[in-house]
Amino acid sequence: MLKIQPSQIILSLILCLTLYSELSIAASNEMIVKKSVRKEMNTISSHIRDMGLYIASEGEFVKNANKTIIQKHLQELGLLFKNIKIHPVIETQGLTIGQAAIAEQLDQTLVLFNKDQKPKARAKLNAALNLCVSCHTQSPGTIHSEQPKFFQDKDISKLKISDFERAELYFITRDFESAIKLYDKFLNASKKSDDDEFILKALERQLIYYLKIKRSFPLALDHFTGYLKDKRFNDIVNQEISDWVKALSGKSLWDHFDAAKTKEEEMDKFMKNFITDDEEGPIFTVTNSTEVFDLNLSSILMDYYNAHPDTKLGAKILYWMAIIDKRVNDDLFFSLGDYYLLACMEKYNKDPVAKECYEAYMDELEINYLTTEKEFPSEIKAKILKLQQLLNLTEAKKK
Ligand code: HEC
Repeated sequence: MLKIQPSQIILSLILCLTLYSELSIAASNEMIVKKSVRKEMNTISSHIRDMGLYIASEGEFVKNANKTIIQKHLQELGLLFKNIKIHPVIETQGLTIGQAAIAEQLDQTLVLFNKDQKPKARAKLNAALNLCVSCHTQSPGTIHSEQPKFFQDKDISKLKISDFERAELYFITRDFESAIKLYDKFLNASKKSDDDEFILKALERQLIYYLKIKRSFPLALDHFTGYLKDKRFNDIVNQEISDWVKALSGKSLWDHFDAAKTKEEEMDKFMKNFITDDEEGPIFTVTNSTEVFDLNLSSILMDYYNAHPDTKLGAKILYWMAIIDKRVNDDLFFSLGDYYLLACMEKYNKDPVAKECYEAYMDELEINYLTTEKEFPSEIKAKILKLQQLLNLTEAKKK
């Protein structure tokens, strides 16, 4: 029989105690990190609240009397986002991309604003604010069952803006419940003859909420079926909602998906099943509308990637994220597509998929520049050259 010396027991006790206290230090560090990110977000949020009126109204945004104050907020917001990378939470793959994108977009907003191109600056700012949402749909507080805010934004309710605008502010400042209620209020007060643009936007925000934050097909189905029963909207809007309802009545692409527990083989198989090598991206046969499945699929891909940053599938995930994001955010929202493609090339320059990312990136540049000009501007040419060197592209493959 094995004899245990009392000294051995004491030794292992000490070992246990040390381990235990290290664990609890690690846990409390994580808590501090989370809280500090939230605190910083609260500061960010207060700038957005203070700019609420200018964000909502172009008239106020372009007024000379408001110039200094808007400049100050834009500058400070830009800096806040640049410096936020010191927080480990933000180092998650998807969040890093969002952080770089919003910092760059805010810089460009300030440049436009200083050049007195104010309506353009406002459009850019409003597009950039969609990046708040894109981060929050994949941030830890959302993934691990939606956590209430630590810091409450109070003044949004006092701003003299419309219900829709107020809902938008709540949506980007991570107060989803308040936002959804106000979108409902706005939608319920709308008439069939109203401009579809805002009605569809409000509905689409709600779809994002149910699919990317609540992550529930049944809740979404219930919500949108209600709107169909009310017969409140015109035919165009009703058609869109019916397409969603059709897709939501079926199964989600991966029921009870748990990113942390999913193995690489399973993910690989899943991607092969749902994503064919079609340039248009995944084709879903259930309905013509792919919006529901696109949102569902992008959550699955991004959650997996954030949970397994070293996966061999990284380049492929970023490629598909880009294609899906462009399709979903086509007109209404800001697309992170190009940022995903750049990350794909920069992080995985040895992976064959990086070349596909390059081609998709070039297609986009051609659409953006070559429809009006014969040549790319010199800074874009330099950017392309850098990418070609990075990917080691020979003349023949440059396309
Ligand atoms: C780089 C990713 C990222 C971007 C971009 C981002 N956030 Fe956040 N935000 C987070 C994370 C992480 C949290 C912590 C809670 C969580 O995990 O969801 C958070 C939480 C918040 C909170 C809740 C704070 C609390 O009381 O708990 C607010 C408010 C907020 N963000 C506002 C904004 C606004 C406004 C923008 C855009 C101007 C923005 N955020 C952009 C990552 C981001």
